[in-house]
Amino acid sequence: MESKRGGFSSKLGFVAAAAGSAVGLGNIWQFPYVTGENGGAAFLLVYALWIFLIGLPIMVGEIAIGRNTQSNPFGAFKKLGGKAWALVGLFGIICGVMILSFYNVVSGWAFGYFIQIVSGDIFEESNFSSYFSNYVANYEDNLMYSIVFMVITAFIVYKGIKKGIEGTSKILMPTLFLILIAIIIYGLTLPNAIDGVKFYLLPDFSLINGATIYSALGQAFFSLSLGMGALITYGSYIGKNDNIVNSATLVTITDSMVAFLAGLMIFPLVFSQGQSPSEGPGLVFVALLGVFKTMPLIIAKIVGGGFFLLLCFAALTSTISLLEVPVSFLIDEKKWSRIKAVSVMAVIIFIIGLPSMLGFGAVDLFTEFVYYEGEYKTFMDVVQDIFFVISLPLGGLLLSIFIAWQWKVKSLSNEVSNGYSKYSGSLLEKYFNFMIVYICPLVLGMMFVLTILQKFFA
Ligand code: PHE
Repeated sequence: MESKRGGFSSKLGFVAAAAGSAVGLGNIWQFPYVTGENGGAAFLLVYALWIFLIGLPIMVGEIAIGRNTQSNPFGAFKKLGGKAWALVGLFGIICGVMILSFYNVVSGWAFGYFIQIVSGDIFEESNFSSYFSNYVANYEDNLMYSIVFMVITAFIVYKGIKKGIEGTSKILMPTLFLILIAIIIYGLTLPNAIDGVKFYLLPDFSLINGATIYSALGQAFFSLSLGMGALITYGSYIGKNDNIVNSATLVTITDSMVAFLAGLMIFPLVFSQGQSPSEGPGLVFVALLGVFKTMPLIIAKIVGGGFFLLLCFAALTSTISLLEVPVSFLIDEKKWSRIKAVSVMAVIIFIIGLPSMLGFGAVDLFTEFVYYEGEYKTFMDVVQDIFFVISLPLGGLLLSIFIAWQWKVKSLSNEVSNGYSKYSGSLLEKYFNFMIVYICPLVLGMMFVLTILQKFFA
């Protein structure tokens, strides 16, 4: 893997980086609140189905295309399919840019909470729900912390694949796991915690409807970092002898575990404090603070500070993968230097993120941006709806069509067989091929139409 483009030093390096990309705010901030808004256990079940039936085959496809072409998403589709297909890659890169624009804002919130917990008097508050609303409406803090976050992301991406991305992921992922487990154990000892467990684990099937199903699909793609080329990009740095199926499975399991644990952490806390699970984007910020407050101050600072710091790190390994996508495009296709690509993109993405930041009360226009689905949506809601709920599964749909009709499953099998010689002829191969050629195009195509209808014409 000693090419000019750089590469991961080992299989573990790739898995750590790809899992780092997958595990992030999507798992710890978003998954619990989306699950809470969509009925709990029933949502969890649909989510798990999407992850393993559709997510895993698409992930294998993305990594294989990346490794085969050694390119960014645009270059990859262009090499294998010509100019028209390259537009699919370009669209993915644009989604990455838009996702990072709001992701960086939420990362800034997490960073701000970390600072406030360790240095401030946040625990003197009594109502953390209104505290959160005021906090996100205050753009001065948010501006500062999200600038810091973007600068750190840019610095790591500038450092390049091996030193920056891989090293950061390897240490931080396991630590995050441990702190989650610790808070879960503590949470389960609290009064009424069991109601949270029930809400989270005992499905009420009458709660499953069209909206649950497509929210779960978008959430699955987002959480696994699929549908916009992040894993094509990371796949382009993986060694020829690595086993793609193994790596993809490990990444998928890790990501699902962290999301699952985040839910298991949050819902008992929410119920033990008598809060509502459908609190929305503030859920993690509100529920956790209430619990930390019950601890002796110094412990609260250590556990609370530790939690938000790790949340920042989890977010960071995702923001670097998001920024790496447009950066690798500019380096490969426009022959920009890494430093130029990183600085220009970081500034542009930060600016695109400003309306998202200002849409929580600071500026009315962005707070009540558009009206649909029976309510006013914030600017951030709209970006999320367009660039991940709709676009990521659409990206997966186009990818599966691309593999089935253009690249052909034969080529996919050949690529996957490198590093996994028993793959060709195996049952697993037949399964993945069947999913990619028939199930993904059919199901994702149907879901795309339904999502658009539900969202904008219902
Ligand atoms: N998967 C990341 C998360 O769960 C977000 C992400 C989406 C990262 C798409 C890269 C690409 O937080």
